[in-house]
Amino acid sequence: MLPEDYTKFDITFKMIILGHHGVGKTCLTKQAIRNTFDEAYNSTIGFEFVNFNVKLDDKVVKLQIWDTCGQEIYRSLISGFYKNAALAVLVYAIDSKESFTNLDVWLKDIKLQSNPDIKIFLVGNKTDLEDQRVVNFEEAKKYANENDFDYVIETSAKTGFNAKEVFIQAAKVLYLEHLKYTNKANLSSTKYNLNTNAKIDK
Ligand code: GTP
Repeated sequence: MLPEDYTKFDITFKMIILGHHGVGKTCLTKQAIRNTFDEAYNSTIGFEFVNFNVKLDDKVVKLQIWDTCGQEIYRSLISGFYKNAALAVLVYAIDSKESFTNLDVWLKDIKLQSNPDIKIFLVGNKTDLEDQRVVNFEEAKKYANENDFDYVIETSAKTGFNAKEVFIQAAKVLYLEHLKYTNKANLSSTKYNLNTNAKIDK
């Protein structure tokens, strides 16, 4: 991983973070990039955007991350954010059934408004709240399989568990797709050591 303000890059991708309000989209992004966590809840207004830079092979991959707001009143604003997104991360919180059942609504928006080739990740955040868990990982994996997600993982923005992993996997998946598209490389995903425990077999 490289610094957030690293200016040289070989390839850049836009990714969007979506999901019910309060599931931890902003915290997860900040934990992955800045190693910080804020207990206070400051709902995102519209969107914020940050960069995640990582080196794969000899290439610097820059993810331009659009962290969106989950509040219903801003949903109409978000529609414009899907444009040119290569990957969407759909987040729910493991202690909130509502955030999980609400995934259908977000997924429908993604399918309606984004590029048909968009990659989609499912992230179950707040694993540190294990004693309040109402969504188990098996249920999430089943949902991800049924809905053709590309990757599923659980995280905690609070402890940092798997926070960076989400973005590293995103960079790997998009970089591999780019190589495939430009036909330049050996396409074995194992080359980049994709986490096969969480990756969905297709
Ligand atoms: P919107 O911008 O309103 O859509 O919210 P969001 O999804 O960006 O959530 P945000 O990151 O602002 O976090 C909401 C609240 O959940 C804050 O009080 C955070 O401290 C808390 N939170 C976020 N991630 C975690 C986590 O992994 N564990 C715990 N225990 N709390 C978390």
